[in-house]
Amino acid sequence: MSSDVVTKRISTRDIRQRKAGIPIVALTAYSTPMARLLDRHVDLLLVGDSLGMVVYGMETTIGVTLDMMIAHARAVVRGSGHACVIVDLPFGSYQESPEQAFRNSARVLMETGAAGVKLEGGSEMAHTIEFLVKRGIPVLGHVGLRPQSVHTMGGFRTQGKGSDEARKILADAKAVADAGAFALVLEGTVEPVARIVTAEVAVPVIGIGASPACDGQILVVEDMLGLSGETVPKFVKRYADLGDAVDNAAGRYAFDVRARTFPTTEQCTGVEKPSSDH
Ligand code: KIV
Repeated sequence: MSSDVVTKRISTRDIRQRKAGIPIVALTAYSTPMARLLDRHVDLLLVGDSLGMVVYGMETTIGVTLDMMIAHARAVVRGSGHACVIVDLPFGSYQESPEQAFRNSARVLMETGAAGVKLEGGSEMAHTIEFLVKRGIPVLGHVGLRPQSVHTMGGFRTQGKGSDEARKILADAKAVADAGAFALVLEGTVEPVARIVTAEVAVPVIGIGASPACDGQILVVEDMLGLSGETVPKFVKRYADLGDAVDNAAGRYAFDVRARTFPTTEQCTGVEKPSSDH
């Protein structure tokens, strides 16, 4: 038997127990190399349907399919061994009925090895969340700004500005938690409301564009690495400028190829070394 230390993955139960504890660190990941780089730093890797916009250049997340999510989730699970991997259910794969949600969530868990699914919605999704959890599918909720509802919400608009919206977000968050979600993402919500939701909801609240008071934070990794273009939303903090690094590297490579300074014989095989004899 190997004497290697086997590191156990963080479970959805571990995340659930982090309410008001050490903040949960979460990032999105869509590929094996990125998952490998992030795994030891984060508690949770989300295979977000934001991949439709970030990787595939779509305008919204509406066109993302379950097969796309499964392919990327398999890649992320392969590249990680520590973080809890959660997969977004894409638009149209769970809203029709609890049975549809179960069928597609079961596919996600069986075909990817991920620990659970995330779905967007508040009180209207509570019954579905309860149905899934009771049948062995851990669910991460998602309230506040819900990108899959971009067409009914009138765009990617910060939520919770008026008292009606604020009350609705709090009621949604409580309904999702009461239905059995192990945690929830609170996106694009004004800070005072996000703070109240975090204080009043029993499960961990993971914020994005929400509040420092949340029980954890999540960002789209390309945003924080400077890989998503010039303009980033206000809630993003850039920790690196990899876009500039890629631009610079591609420019130097193009220069070398055109100048025939790459490759040199050093990068070739079967080239006889010049003899050192005189
Ligand atoms: O799809 C996604 O990446 C998300 C995060 C922004 C929370 O839902």
